[in-house]
Amino acid sequence: MTTGELPARAGSAGQERLADRLLRSTAARSYDPDLDIDWSAPPQQGKVFLPEHRSTLYGTALWERLSPGQRRELGKHEAASVASFGIWLECILLRLLARLAYEGDPATRRVQYALAEMAEECRHSTMFARLIEWLGVPYYRPSRRVHALGRLLTAAAYGPAMWGAILIGEEITDRYQREMAADDSMQPIIQMVNRIHILEEARHIGFARAELARSAARLPRAGLPVQRAVLGRVAFIVARNLVSPEVYRSVGLDPAGARRAALANPAHHETLRYGGEKIVAFLREAGMIGPPATRLWRRSHLIA
Ligand SMILES: [Fe+2]
Ligand SMILES: [Fe+2]
Repeated sequence: MTTGELPARAGSAGQERLADRLLRSTAARSYDPDLDIDWSAPPQQGKVFLPEHRSTLYGTALWERLSPGQRRELGKHEAASVASFGIWLECILLRLLARLAYEGDPATRRVQYALAEMAEECRHSTMFARLIEWLGVPYYRPSRRVHALGRLLTAAAYGPAMWGAILIGEEITDRYQREMAADDSMQPIIQMVNRIHILEEARHIGFARAELARSAARLPRAGLPVQRAVLGRVAFIVARNLVSPEVYRSVGLDPAGARRAALANPAHHETLRYGGEKIVAFLREAGMIGPPATRLWRRSHLIA
């Protein structure tokens, strides 16, 4: 068979160039959290597990009643809950990327990069699992409903909504991780987890943003409302589920009451808005935020 008879390689030259650059970067710099993090080191006295101002209850009447030790304990459980939700998100990413590899041409750099990203997400999920184990706290499983919606998303999302869902998961957590990586009041192991994740996610975000822009440009106008509706729902689920109400039991609070206080807390709204700032700007620019999902975005507090 001559070259001319080979099936046309899917994907544009621009996608291939980007994927090639990202593959080179992956080969040059990536981590193995099993080896690169000293999991035998105990937590350090006086260091926090989450910056206090990022706690969901920070500034509320409930917060004022907690002792410094209880605030630190709550932060530990909230950090574990975000890591737990991170594993759920990454399992979804793995299935979406596996679809791309399943349907695409493995001889393209684009599909090879999807495979490389899957390898990284596998290591990330293991890293978050080890973090939860190191913290000595429960795995905060998403509710059954969220679990079922995740399964639906992996089967049904396509185009800009698929890439946007990936980006919502990756970019919101990335903002908090960058803040924590630069904060020396944090536990060193958590800082290291954050540094590893930030470095490798920067490639994933670059890839997904380019894929989203490309698929949004090809989307027929009639498809836009469905894509926006899916993204609004994903944004709302992510914002509401980063921290499980079960964490409040760790400091003797009633989960339902503390959850209500968190959802009404202006400081928590500001934390969500901060987390969403970059991805909201990007999705707006791409035309992916708007009716019929504007209200869901506002209720998520990712938009002020
Ligand atoms: Fe990741
Ligand atoms: Fe990622």
